[in-house]
Amino acid sequence: MKKESIEYLIQEFLKSYFGWEFSLKKRVLAFLCLQFGDSGKGKFSNLFARWAKVIVRPSGGDNSGHTSEYKGQEVVTHLVPSGIFFPDKINIIGSDTVVNPESLLKEIYYLKSLGVTFHNFFISLRANLILPSHLILDGLGENKAGKGRIGTTRKGIGPCYADHTARRGLVMNHLLNPEIFRSKLRALLNYHEQVISGMGCGYEARQMLEKINPDYVNSIGEDGLFNADNIADAYLAFGTELAGFIKNTDKMIRGFLGKENIALEGAQGIMLDVDYGTGQFVTSSHCTPAGMAKGAGLRECDIDASFGIIKGFYMTRVGKGPFPTELGGADSEIWCNENGSKAKELEGYADATIFDPDPFIQGVALRRHAHEYGASTGRPRRIGWADLPMLRYALEVTGVQHLILTRLDILTGVKTINLCHSYEYDGPDYTYGEKIFQKGMIIDEAIPDPEFLENCKPVYKEFAGWETDIRGLTDDTKLPVQLTKITRYIDAAIDHRARIAIISTGPGPEETMFMP
Ligand code: IMP
Repeated sequence: MKKESIEYLIQEFLKSYFGWEFSLKKRVLAFLCLQFGDSGKGKFSNLFARWAKVIVRPSGGDNSGHTSEYKGQEVVTHLVPSGIFFPDKINIIGSDTVVNPESLLKEIYYLKSLGVTFHNFFISLRANLILPSHLILDGLGENKAGKGRIGTTRKGIGPCYADHTARRGLVMNHLLNPEIFRSKLRALLNYHEQVISGMGCGYEARQMLEKINPDYVNSIGEDGLFNADNIADAYLAFGTELAGFIKNTDKMIRGFLGKENIALEGAQGIMLDVDYGTGQFVTSSHCTPAGMAKGAGLRECDIDASFGIIKGFYMTRVGKGPFPTELGGADSEIWCNENGSKAKELEGYADATIFDPDPFIQGVALRRHAHEYGASTGRPRRIGWADLPMLRYALEVTGVQHLILTRLDILTGVKTINLCHSYEYDGPDYTYGEKIFQKGMIIDEAIPDPEFLENCKPVYKEFAGWETDIRGLTDDTKLPVQLTKITRYIDAAIDHRARIAIISTGPGPEETMFMP
């Protein structure tokens, strides 16, 4: 191992942080976001891919976007694990994922065009198949919900997971058994057709399907909306292309336990988790270490350490749903979800500064400064200060004990940093099991219900910012005192339940501070 290489630094970090004995054995590490996603998991999966032999993306679908650097170029991946950029690594799309084979193939072609090879790449035979009808149901659900919509990525994620849970979904392995696939597909499309006609959305669905692929649509007057034969032919053709990758990856990964280092690459974030996230404003997969282990065919106890990733002192959210610390509140939500766009923001708010008295403008300035635009959708990400009640909740439900702070370099030069240390409840009485929350109560740990969070006013503690550029800093003793004051405050505010293990001081792999 070359001294001072990233691999060497990671190994030294594991030795000093977890102890010598820890670093002697092959380990399973999980990397997950404790917020609403987009916290910089891509960088850490990519970084630890140098340490791991096996990198697994256990859950979620092409709703996520991970940004990595490859040959000096920024590359966004959606489903393929970040270890793909290292030819000697084994990359696996796990069993709790939802896979749109067409979009996966596009991603593979794109990466291949950059010189990436796929000889060590596998997809679980149990990964769930996203069908064109799932895209339509997702889109129709959003269109019908009007103001109550979730703001999904419209990639068919929710409907695909719903079919899985309702025991009628299709999986990758069905593509290897054409007759079984055709008959199951026909039954599922019939069911989707009934749902669509029950919604009274036949015409809208037809228009959407035309856009996805005109071959998938029956002519008007023919039997039904979906041309099941054409969809089956197309999917079986995708299956032929993907066949070499489809394996019993659960068994494969279990076989690596104790023999190779394994990194689990999370998707989305705890506050978007289907069980623990903010009510209906979530994705449909499990984002916890337990969920990640299951998606990799492992048990939670097989994970040796889970790293919870949070943005350094600010956070973002894409789509709808409660966000107590959002700068600009409802105006920002409407701007990011309805009226705004990156282009409009770059043009119309060229002079926005973080020092503006209007929180909405502060938010725009911070977003522009931090380039917080969706990797998958290009949408402006809603932005606000770090929320400690939410962090306490996320730590409580995940049991995560190690934190990674990302994007800290972004806040250099910002005069005042606000941390939301608690909420003041400002709504009607809200019953949560045995508890009743009343107006004026101070809340230290978030509960995830949207109806509750919408009435929580953040209570901030103000900190002075720092001026010294910390970009690329790797030595923690050189961190500005103002910054360490904030990290110490966070340590205490979360009752030392988790330790800051790593600080990211820039997007590059070497711009990483491993804490002793
Ligand atoms: P879905 O996962 O497309 O069903 O979207 C459900 C919610 O999760 C929406 O608010 C999305 O914006 C959000 N979401 C899904 N994936 C991501 C992600 O990778 N980053 C941030 N938000 C996401």
